[in-house]
Amino acid sequence: MPLFRKAPSDMPEVDFDHLPAHVAIIMDGNGRWAKRRGLPRTAGHAAGAETFRTIATYAKEIGLDYLTVYAFSTENWKRPAEEVSAIMGLLKKYLLEAIEKMERDRVKMEFFGDLSPLHPELRELCERTREISKRYEGCQVNICLNYGGRDEITRAVREIAAQWMQQGREPEEITEEDISRRLFSGGIPDPDLIIRPSGEVRTSNFLLWQSAYSEYYFTDVLWPDFSKEELLRAIADYQHRSRRYGGV
Ligand code: FPP
Repeated sequence: MPLFRKAPSDMPEVDFDHLPAHVAIIMDGNGRWAKRRGLPRTAGHAAGAETFRTIATYAKEIGLDYLTVYAFSTENWKRPAEEVSAIMGLLKKYLLEAIEKMERDRVKMEFFGDLSPLHPELRELCERTREISKRYEGCQVNICLNYGGRDEITRAVREIAAQWMQQGREPEEITEEDISRRLFSGGIPDPDLIIRPSGEVRTSNFLLWQSAYSEYYFTDVLWPDFSKEELLRAIADYQHRSRRYGGV
């Protein structure tokens, strides 16, 4: 199977009885989408936020168990201050709307990442969203916010080291499971499929531990143009692969 595929024009055939349980997406290409239209980058993020809403709702509709999206990385703080605040503003706007519409869409939301450096108002909104949506059934949407894969693993290792020192335990006793359950994603299955739109072919510090056996799907469609059909195309492609987890 080729690593990089251009979207075919025919519609994908998806087996809805055997969907991947967990799909993750690197929402990339907002800036280029805006540039091509002569718009400011922030307009690309606004369009990207709309795409996120469409895809999150659709993920629940088709019956995915988990959808994880990369909204803001630990490295994204390096962007110009006005772009960072525009992304934060969109998150705030989206979450406020989401809380209002939650009774209708009933989308369950979680947040992966260190929320402590966020504006207190945004942090409080994340907590509230998490609380309200706890009671909802169906697809859980995980928004990675101030998230980095290396940061996540470092935190888990620090926690284990502190606990082990306190309990006088041997390093040999540390298992993969000890690390897994201390990650932000602790308790949920690893992603089966990771999608990266925009033509970039790298992982960018996303779900480093959890992606050990994930299937990747790359497309040159920019995130604001990503559609329900694109998601189905990625799933159909995934369903034609043979996953061997290191075996034969
Ligand atoms: C990457 O595109 C995108 C981001 C760093 C931000 C993603 C944010 C959103 C989609 C909006 C808010 C999110 C939610 C969950 C409501 P880029 O800016 O790197 O694009 P480029 O590579 O074309 O410059």
